[in-house]
Amino acid sequence: MRGIMQWQPDESGPMSAGYGKAYFDLVRLRRPRRGLEIGTETGQSAANFLLAAPWGSLVSLDIRPCVEARERIERLGLLMRWRFCQCNSQMPDQVPAFHRGHFDWVYVDGDHSKGAVKKDLALGWGLLSAGGTLVADDYSMVPDVKEACNAFALEKEILWTGVDGHPHGAVWMEKP
Ligand SMILES: C[S@@+](CC[C@H](N)C(=O)[O-])C[C@H]1O[C@@H](n2cnc3c(N)ncnc32)[C@H](O)[C@@H]1O
Repeated sequence: MRGIMQWQPDESGPMSAGYGKAYFDLVRLRRPRRGLEIGTETGQSAANFLLAAPWGSLVSLDIRPCVEARERIERLGLLMRWRFCQCNSQMPDQVPAFHRGHFDWVYVDGDHSKGAVKKDLALGWGLLSAGGTLVADDYSMVPDVKEACNAFALEKEILWTGVDGHPHGAVWMEKP
């Protein structure tokens, strides 16, 4: 039986089955209520979040309109819990105003250049609550992402944890 609480295999985007399942399992483990995603593209990560946390809501940001993402989320019947904002995450005045600590899940998968990842991590950290989860995608795959994440971890004095089974080497940490 395929219920809303179960993972639904879907390889019609950048997430392979292993990647999607690993992301879904991490959401399940951390049980977030309010998520922020930087980098929406096809909506696969958004769909996995909303399926894994059926009590949760998600705000997804992207510089592009991400029509495919909207179609995917709508097809899955998840639109009620999803908000999309087309904006440049590198430009603070373009990002919708949220209270500090509003989110308990922040997923960084936007511009993968070192400077941009640094800025997105800082933006996400400020909006993350104590005990919340910060996730960075493509840590092992993109050297710039790894460098930015390592510098961030040193500054915060918190170790990243690898996401088991994630072929792109995503990492996560909990905000104290
Ligand atoms: C790797 S893709 C995200 C994949 C997505 N998580 C998925 O499941 O399909 C990176 C996305 O970041 C977006 N992006 C790049 N630079 C950005 C910026 N400065 N602000 C917001 N989004 C940006 C791109 O348009 C692209 O859609």
